[in-house]
Order: sequence, then structure tokens, then C-alpha cells
Amino acid sequence: MRTLWVVALSVLLLRGESRLLPAPYSVHAGQGRMAAGTDLRVEVEGLHEPRLDAAVERFRKRGGYGLLRVRIGSAGNAVQSLDEDESYHLEVTSTGATLTAPNPLGAMHGLETFSQLAREPAAPGGMEAVTIEDHPRYRWRGLMLDVSRHFIPVDGIHRTLEGMAAVKLNVFHWHLSDDQGFRVESRRYPRLQESGSDGLFYTRDQIREVVQYARDRGIRVVPEFDVPGHAASWLAGYPELGMGPGPFHVFRTWAGHDAVFDPAKPEVYEFLDRFLGEMATLFPDAYFHIGGDEVSTLSRGQQAEFNRKLRKILAGHAKQMEGWDEILDPALPNDVLIQSWRGAKALAETVRQGRPGILSAGYYLNLMEPSSKMYLVDPGGEPGDGPGVLGGETCLWTEFASAENLDSRIWPRAGAVAERLWSPASVRDIPDMHRRLALLDQELEELGLQHNANYRAMLRRLADSPKPGDSPGLRTLADVLEPGSLGLRRRVTPLADQTTPLDRLVDAVRPESVVAWQFSELVDRYLHSRKSEANREEINRWLRLWAANRVNHPANALLVRLATDALAGRRNRQTLEAAKRPIGDLHLAVGPALVKLILAGK
Ligand code: ACM
Repeated sequence: MRTLWVVALSVLLLRGESRLLPAPYSVHAGQGRMAAGTDLRVEVEGLHEPRLDAAVERFRKRGGYGLLRVRIGSAGNAVQSLDEDESYHLEVTSTGATLTAPNPLGAMHGLETFSQLAREPAAPGGMEAVTIEDHPRYRWRGLMLDVSRHFIPVDGIHRTLEGMAAVKLNVFHWHLSDDQGFRVESRRYPRLQESGSDGLFYTRDQIREVVQYARDRGIRVVPEFDVPGHAASWLAGYPELGMGPGPFHVFRTWAGHDAVFDPAKPEVYEFLDRFLGEMATLFPDAYFHIGGDEVSTLSRGQQAEFNRKLRKILAGHAKQMEGWDEILDPALPNDVLIQSWRGAKALAETVRQGRPGILSAGYYLNLMEPSSKMYLVDPGGEPGDGPGVLGGETCLWTEFASAENLDSRIWPRAGAVAERLWSPASVRDIPDMHRRLALLDQELEELGLQHNANYRAMLRRLADSPKPGDSPGLRTLADVLEPGSLGLRRRVTPLADQTTPLDRLVDAVRPESVVAWQFSELVDRYLHSRKSEANREEINRWLRLWAANRVNHPANALLVRLATDALAGRRNRQTLEAAKRPIGDLHLAVGPALVKLILAGK
């Protein structure tokens, strides 16, 4: 009993100061430390596998210290599958570390964990001895990226995959066609990319290269070609396949009349059979996503009939069909995977019908919701019990994301979803997640992600332009702003479309202000628990900085008024009201905490 207590306590202590994200299944503190100060040595013992050797090479380049022995049981599947074991065991002792895993997938996850441990700021004398047993809660942990509305060049895809590997996400869902662009080269039907893409598409070689790059990091690539709706970019080159007379052209705007394949035309199925056959060889994964969302011109029956035919075509190419939750239909065979985006109800209904499902409702990065909210959305279900819930995917639709701000729209918030999908359901402490997300932010920067570099670059350009004014305070302001949701942006700039440059303040500011949650937690500590002088002084330092900030921007005017009132202990009703409203398409993210402080009158 007493030992159990000690173990439980040491687990808690270690968890408390750990930087690991996602948190492992179990962590037990050991005795002593593995000393820092020597160059990292990694030895692969026993079986060598090209992916593992390449991963070890990358990890050596990251730096670190100590000795790490790696051993795997088998080479893993030729095409990574949903059912592969991703577990690993990592033991750090004072003389060195040992990582064992059934296959390279687990070993690669363990390398990421080891890499995070080596960064532990709490262990200046070296890495604390520890035993980690780890495996994911869900097998399907994805990130969906729309490259149709804004094209993302291959280096942006590489960075995204790098970030995914760091947080153990294992499915890259590549949304490759939509009304706004068709993004893959087809040899069989070249007008798809010629008429559907403005020349911005991936060549077949680039696709193969990305698939390999992902595989090297333990990530599957699931392509999505959205049919029968959202098909304007297909029909631009092949209008005879569409419903109605056309003309069909690629959309520049975010909405338009339905452009839909005509499900009554036999040639549509011949076309899709040949096209999907071509893509099936390019994308080796067992799953193939056919979209199926938002088809308002077809009846449910028409779409269900279309999907049944499509499923047969895909089965002929040895692919399992996946689609958005609109395709859920009792007449569809049970092996079709349903991606729930309109609400958790669709996932529950999927599971009730005995079908496999994944959750995306609640994980949309483009809605600009805080990590804390996404973090608490749980796919539920009983993993490993029947088809049921396989996991989830966080999604980025790119109406307002470009190659330049891509990384900041995804990271670090996607890390919160990654933890939800990997770690035990009981890991739910939001302040602790925030603390580790901030450390992940730095880690990702060191891995080459551009979320911070491009933020600084975009602000520099804005500061040089006459609007919002040449000002050293722009960064201070931008650090406490957040972009409005998709809906707000569409209301504020209804004419914005694919050709609108994404170079305004709203495009630069980070989706989640780290200063805002740090300040908010500081205010809560001050008001509710330890009302210490030190907390108050730290609050006042922020207030003085903001009260004195000089930038010619309406959001700054509000920030200055709120900070000044908070310092003076003054309540101004108009200012408090203004703090509740967006400023154009921006939110003052420290507004709620400032209002709370002012209303508390302390
Ligand atoms: C979707 O967000 N239309 C799947």
C-alpha cells in the first residue's frame, strides 16, 4: 500500500512538471539522472529498418545528450495501417536510455518523447530517470488540411508533417479538390489541373515524395477528392459530367451555386473509376475520402445511390471508402468510415449503426476557438471495442489561411487535439495543458515551423505601412489580439475571396493569444486564491505596458482605456461594454480578464 502511494506520488510529481505533450499513458519516476554534457549517441540494436535509421539520423541532428539504445521487434507493414501497434517503452537510467517498440512507429513516437525529455527545463543536471509505458488512446489521430481554397506549397506540407510527428498525430488528410481548386496532376484527365487550378497543383512526383515523407514520420496520407458536390474545379474542365448546362468555372468566392456531378449519367462513373484508379496507385493508404458534404441539389436518396456506386468503384481499387457525415445512410455497407463534422450526434448515430467513425466537430482550427475548448471535446466511445470510434481529426479550412500564416493557424493549438486523441481521457487539466502548449510552441519553432517567424515578419511589414502606423507598440497590441471566427470575418469582409491578399493584422495575429491566457490565469490566481502582492505587481506591470502603448488602431484605443481604468480602479460602463464586442474582425483577447479585474474592484 505504502509503495503504491509513493509510486502514485512520484507519478504526480513528475506529471506536474513534465513538458511531455501528449502526456504518456504512464510515467514512473526512477532514481538519479542521465548526465547532460556529452553528445547524443543513438545506437540501433538488432533489426535495422530504413525509416528508423532515417528517424535516428534526424534526431541526432536535433542535438541532445546521453546514450539512447533503440530496439524494434519487426519492420512494420509495407503500407502503414490503422491496426499497427504504436506503443513504445522508454526507460531512462543514470547510465543511459533504452527505447523498445514492436515496430518503427512506436520507436518514432518514443524518439519524440525522448527529444522532449531532453529539453526538460526542470532538469538542469540531466534527464531524470524515468520509465514510460506509452500507447495511443485512439488509432486515428488526424489533421485535415484544405489546399483548395488556398494552395499550400510542398514545403508547407513538410512543415505540417513535421509538427504532426512531434505530437504523434498519424493521419494527414489532404483535402485536394473543392470548388476553389483542383490540386493534383492527373495524366488521365489533365484538364482537371489545367482548367481547375491556375497552375497551382502538386505533380505526381511531389505527391509520391510527400507520401514517403509522411511514412518516414509514421504518418498515413489519406487523400480527399470531394464528390458529388463542391465539384466546380472538376467541372471546369469536364462540364459534360455536371448537372445542368453550366458553364462551370472555378469559384473565387467561398460560396456559390452548387456545382455537382450528375449522378444519372453513366459516364460520370466511368470517369470516376478511371480517375480513382489513377489516384489509387499514387496514394497507397487503404482509405480514400470521397467528401460527400453539403450537396443540397441532390435528394438524400440520389446521393446515397451515388455513394453505393462509388463504394463499389473504390472497392475495385482495393480502397475503403471514407466520407463526411452527410454520406451516413442505412443502405450503405457497414465498412464505410464516417467523419463527423456537423456535431457529435452524427458520430453517435454512426456508432449506433455499427459503423466506424471519427470526430471532427469541435476540432475545426479555422473557427479560431481556444485550445482549452477543443481540448475538452472528447470523441468518447470505447476504443478497441467493435468498429466504433476510431479517433478524430483536427481540420483547417483555408478561406483565411495562406502559405505564410499556415503554421500559426495550425500550431500550437493542434497540439491540444493531439493530446486528446493520444493521452488517457483523464488528462484534462487546462492550465497544465497551456503550460505545455507554450513549451511545444518553442519546440516546433526549433523544428523549423514558421508560426513565430512569419508572425514577426507580417507585423514588421504592417508596421512599415501607413496603416496601422509605424509603431514599436504593434507587437504589444498584436500579442493580445485574436482573429475573429470564420463567420465574423465573412460578415466584416463579405467581398473577400481567393484573390484577397491575407496580409492584414487579422491574418498576422495568432489564433490564440498566449499573453491572454497567461494574464487571465494570473488574474484568477490574484482574485480567487493567492491574493499576493507579487501577483498584483505582475498584473500592474502588464497594465502599465498596455496603458502606455501607442499604436494607431481602434483595438489599441480600447486596450489603453481598459488598462488605464484597471490601474485607476475606475469603472466606465461604455468601455466595459465595448470590451464585449469585436473590433472589426479582431477580438481583444485580454478583454474578459481586464473586465473581470475592473469589476472586482481590487
Ligand atoms: C465540411 O466542413 N464541409 C466538411
